[in-house]
Amino acid sequence: MQEISNEIIGSGKSIGFVPTMGYLHEGHLSLVKASKSENDITVVSIFVNPTQFGPNEDLSKYPRDFKRDESFLLENGVDYIFYPHIEEIYPQGFQTYVIQEQISSFLEGAVRPVHFRGVTTIVSILFNIVKPQRAYFGQKDAQQCAVLKRMVTDLCFDLDMKICPIVRESDGLAMSSRNVYLSPQERLDALVLSKSLSLAARIIEKGERDCNKIKTIALALLKEIPSASPDYFEIVDFDTFEIVSTLESKKSYFLVAACKIGKTRLIDNQLIHL
Ligand code: PAJ
Repeated sequence: MQEISNEIIGSGKSIGFVPTMGYLHEGHLSLVKASKSENDITVVSIFVNPTQFGPNEDLSKYPRDFKRDESFLLENGVDYIFYPHIEEIYPQGFQTYVIQEQISSFLEGAVRPVHFRGVTTIVSILFNIVKPQRAYFGQKDAQQCAVLKRMVTDLCFDLDMKICPIVRESDGLAMSSRNVYLSPQERLDALVLSKSLSLAARIIEKGERDCNKIKTIALALLKEIPSASPDYFEIVDFDTFEIVSTLESKKSYFLVAACKIGKTRLIDNQLIHL
């Protein structure tokens, strides 16, 4: 892959890169389309990265179907699929990690302690292999975007980070490879996550600025569903991802929520501008 990238760059062409863990859906495709519209060559990686899963998480059952992903990507005009074997990424003796300190420490980072260390490490390795001019990520994982943007700035990675909007099912559920875990009843129950975000956004639109009040109402809606057990509902600053207590005008925030539906953990968020 590194040799291919060197050749592409040598011939004066630009590389757009979409890192994924596979089991692709329309959300991933939106990143591919954005990359194709802005670059000569689009590279998609598929790698279920073990270092970003905690010991009790779903690494072994994470959905995988390379053949299906391959035809999906080829149908949609992707130039290269980088599908490395685990030993190529983490050979024997591997012992170097990238740690983003602050943004990584709360919300998803608090519930999933090793998660962002794994994400920043794999994305750094992939950037050094693929050498893109532009890299595409989804706002679906808003904290991941904030962590990676900070990493790219702090470590002077020479590329542009492009963040694309969340793609949703027609009923509002954010698309995710993990949605396949949901039973038909849980699939219906899962709608409460996006509904809690829209409810909070409506309350804010009506003028509420006290985050505790907004949070309490949103959490109450989540708790109405018996299969739902919320991890958090918070309002965070757009750039620093720090939890805020009062909303100020002319600022941007993310409403962020994480909730288990049965055994499946889902996250969602909504961007608001005041
Ligand atoms: P994965 O969950 O496969 O997601 C790959 C990319 O697709 C991420 O940037 C994610 O935010 C984006 N994405 C997922 N669902 C989306 C949706 N509904 N709308 C828009 N974009 C969506 O995120 C990862 O993999 C990994 O952590 C990775 C960055 C590849 C590192 O291993």
